[in-house]
Amino acid sequence: MPKFQGDWRCEMKMTLDDLAIFGGDSAFQEPLHVGRPNLGDRDLLLMRVNDMLDRRWLSNNGPFVQEFEQRISDMMGVKNCIAMCNGTVALEIAIRSLELKGEVIVPSFTFVATAHALQWQKITPVFCDIDPKTHTIDPSCIEKMITPRTSGIIGVHLWGRPCDIASLEKIAASHNLKLLFDAAHGFGCSYKNKMIGSFGDAEVFSFHPTKFFNTCEGGAIVTNDDALADKIRLMKNFGFSGYDNVIYIGTNGKMNEFSALMGLTNLESLDKFIAVNHENYKSYERELRGLAGVKLIVYDQREKCNYQYVLLEIDESITELSRDQIIDILRAENVLARRYFYPGCHKMEPYRSHFPQAGLVLPETEKLAKRVCSLPTGTAVGPDEIKKICRIMQIAVTSAPEIRERLSGQSANKSNDSRSRYLPIGGLNYEKDTISPL
Ligand SMILES: Cc1ncc(COP(=O)(O)O)c(C=O)c1O
Repeated sequence: MPKFQGDWRCEMKMTLDDLAIFGGDSAFQEPLHVGRPNLGDRDLLLMRVNDMLDRRWLSNNGPFVQEFEQRISDMMGVKNCIAMCNGTVALEIAIRSLELKGEVIVPSFTFVATAHALQWQKITPVFCDIDPKTHTIDPSCIEKMITPRTSGIIGVHLWGRPCDIASLEKIAASHNLKLLFDAAHGFGCSYKNKMIGSFGDAEVFSFHPTKFFNTCEGGAIVTNDDALADKIRLMKNFGFSGYDNVIYIGTNGKMNEFSALMGLTNLESLDKFIAVNHENYKSYERELRGLAGVKLIVYDQREKCNYQYVLLEIDESITELSRDQIIDILRAENVLARRYFYPGCHKMEPYRSHFPQAGLVLPETEKLAKRVCSLPTGTAVGPDEIKKICRIMQIAVTSAPEIRERLSGQSANKSNDSRSRYLPIGGLNYEKDTISPL
C-alpha cells in the first residue's frame, strides 16, 4: 500500500484506504459547495430590512433599488444600470430590447441560460467554438457562421475573464450586428483597465447566490445607450410609463427591495470577498503546483479580477484518471466539485435535437467540457480546507493506476452491493445534493 509524504498540519489522509471512495471517513463532515453564497455585514443588512419594513415599500423601483442602480453605474463608469429580478430575465429583456431576431451567434460553452434566453424568444442560437486558451468565444470562428439571418453576437465573459472584446467589436461593426455580453461572471472585472459593464450595446450581470456577489436572486442590464435604457425600463415594468399608461409590450423583470438592500450590503464587503477569493486561488495554486496533468486557469494580473472560480483543466492522458473519476473521489469526501459547463449547450435539449451535428464545428468546446472541474472557494472555504482538498487530489493523481483498478472492481461489484455508500457522478441527485441550480 503506497504511503504519501507531505507537510500536512491538518488531519491527513495517507493511504488509498483513507479515501472515502474506498471506505475511509469523508474528509469533511459538511459538504463543501462550489458557489456557497458570500454574505455581507448582518447588522447592516437587518438595519436596512427594518428601513424597508418601516417604509412598506417592497418593490416597484423603491429607494434601495434606485440606490443600488446608482452605485453600480458609478462603479462601472456606465450611464445606465437597470436592476432586474435575475440574470436570465435580464438577458431576455436585453435581447428583446436590442431587437435581435433570426440567428444570434453564441458560445456553446456557457451556462444554458445564455442560449435559452434566445430560444425562449424563438431566436436560433448558432453555437460557436471557443478559444481553448481563454475559454471564451473564438472571434476567428465567427465570420463563417454569419448568414443573412444573423442579427447579433453574444459574448460570455466566462469565469470573469473578458472576451476578446476588441475583435468582437470589429466583427460586429463590419457586419452591422448587435453586440451583447453575458457578463454573469464578470462583476468587478476589467478589460484593458476599464470595468466590464460598458462594452458592446449592453452587458448583463447575474447576482445569483452562486456568484461571488449576490442579491439573493437578481441581475442587471448596464448600457451607455440612453434610448435603449429607457426601452428596457419600460419592458421590465409591463410597459408602464406612468400610472395607468401602458405604451409598450413588457413583462415583470423588476428587482425587489430586499434584493437591492442585500446587494447594497454585499457591495460594502465586495473588496473583502475578492481578497478571500484571491487568497484561496493562491492557496490552490501553491498546493497543486507540479501535479502532472492538473492545470489551474490563470487570470490576467494586469486587470481587475474577482477570482470567483477555481477552475481546473484535467488532462486525462497525463493524470490517467478522468475528470469524472477525480470528481467522484472528491464528492465521496464531501467536496462537491462541479463539471462547469458540461456537456455544452449544444448537447442539451432542445439544441441537441435541433443541431445533432453541432459538435463537428465545436471541437474545442467538446474537448474542454470533458476536462474542466470547478472547486469550492469563497468565504466558506479557507487554507485548511484547500490543503485537504489538494491532498486528496495528490493522492488520486499519484496513485492513478491502482485507483483505476479498484474503481473498476467496485463498479463490477456495485450491482450486488446495495449498501454502497458512494454514488458516482451519474447517480447523484443534483437537485438534492447541491444548493446550486448550475
Ligand atoms: C454565464 C451565465 N449566464 C446567465 C446566467 C443566469 O443568471 P441567473 O441565474 O441570475 O438567472 C448564469 C448563472 O446563473 C450564468 O452563469
